[in-house]
Amino acid sequence: MRAAVPGGGRTEKEDLPVVKIAPSILSADFCMLDRDLKAIESADWVHVDVMDGMFVPNITVGIPVVRSLRAHTNMFMDVHLMIDKPDRYVEDFAAAGADLLSVHLEAAGPPYVRRALDLMGSCGVKKGIALRPVTKAEAVEPYIEELDLVLVMTVEPGFGGQKFMPEQLDTIARVRQLIDRYNPGCLLEVDGGINPETARQVVDAGAEVLVAGSAVYGSDDIPGAIAALRGEN
Ligand code: DX5
Ligand code: ZN
Repeated sequence: MRAAVPGGGRTEKEDLPVVKIAPSILSADFCMLDRDLKAIESADWVHVDVMDGMFVPNITVGIPVVRSLRAHTNMFMDVHLMIDKPDRYVEDFAAAGADLLSVHLEAAGPPYVRRALDLMGSCGVKKGIALRPVTKAEAVEPYIEELDLVLVMTVEPGFGGQKFMPEQLDTIARVRQLIDRYNPGCLLEVDGGINPETARQVVDAGAEVLVAGSAVYGSDDIPGAIAALRGEN
């Protein structure tokens, strides 16, 4: 049974938006994934960065690792595919236990994006589209009504630990407008260089799911780091 996408909304306290925290296991110790999964249980999702050495100049993990993670956690598994022609692997990642797949608009032409989304629908996996910093918010408009999530990159995809790109705040705000207009149930996720300070900026711009690798796993107090990203301390 796949986890449902938890709803958004606002807390009763003041005007604090409800944000979901999605730690990226890219910054975990791959020999200690069970320990590092348990360490993030106070977060909402687990974010898995899949890289193929073609779409991005780095290689990380793939289908067998997603399958193993699924066997060890009930957390919502948010799989970010930084791979060329991702439609080729949608069914495999869905079968391995991904709850949501994000494909990059830049990784395939429109017919293949269409095919990837159709396959996600037939596999029962949530549908996400990711945008590199170079891609304009409006590029997502043809698909937005059917999406569960739009992922706006705030670094150039490929590596953890990079510096947040403040110019992407404008893209986040524009995607927020498109979501509010065409599909208010769609979530807006931001990925790259997120720490307590940039978290506040992206939430103010309209983000509601925050991916964080180094800000979580680089901390000696992982639950504290997750709470700090929520703006709780
Ligand atoms: C980058 C990945 C990110 C990365 C985030 O290509 O998509 O998910 O792990 O790492 P930090 O939070 O360290 O920027
Ligand atoms: Zn990512």
